[in-house]
Amino acid sequence: MRTALYPGSFDPVTNGHLDVIERAVLLFDKIIVTVAVNEEKSALFSVEERRLMLEKVCGHLPTVTVKVFHGLLVEAAKQFRACAVIRGLRAVSDFEYEFQMAMMNRTLSDKCETLFLMPKPEFSFLSSKMIKEIASLGGDVSPFVPEPVVKALRTRCSR
Ligand code: PNS
Repeated sequence: MRTALYPGSFDPVTNGHLDVIERAVLLFDKIIVTVAVNEEKSALFSVEERRLMLEKVCGHLPTVTVKVFHGLLVEAAKQFRACAVIRGLRAVSDFEYEFQMAMMNRTLSDKCETLFLMPKPEFSFLSSKMIKEIASLGGDVSPFVPEPVVKALRTRCSR
């Protein structure tokens, strides 16, 4: 059984994240989408809200499960017996940070291999940060995020 982790903040999950998950499903027996708890980053949605949104939007993918993780990614990879960590690469600008993180994780644990998957080009400019900004200013985010997320953003941003 080959398991991969797909970690991230997912605040909130976008169509780009979902595209990466759908690609990873074709390569591994099991994908564990892991929502990172980061006390230093202020988030729009709670960890539990993000987990539930991910579960909803991955409902059509039976080999995907969603978990929350605290602490180091390499520890989560060990705990979930994952042989790889998946990260999405949208553009060259992502590369430096991702490369640093992949090398650091492999130094912390030589069993932690990172695999990069590229989403469709039409998702290459998407970011959760931008989507939150558009939603908070009353813009239409429906082309960029799955329907449950559109609804959640509408509710959260109308407060
Ligand atoms: O979606 P993001 O915010 O780009 O995801 C970043 C994430 C959560 C994958 C990264 O911050 C992470 O792995 N955090 C866990 C803490 C950790 O292991 N830090 C060392 C990595 S070099």
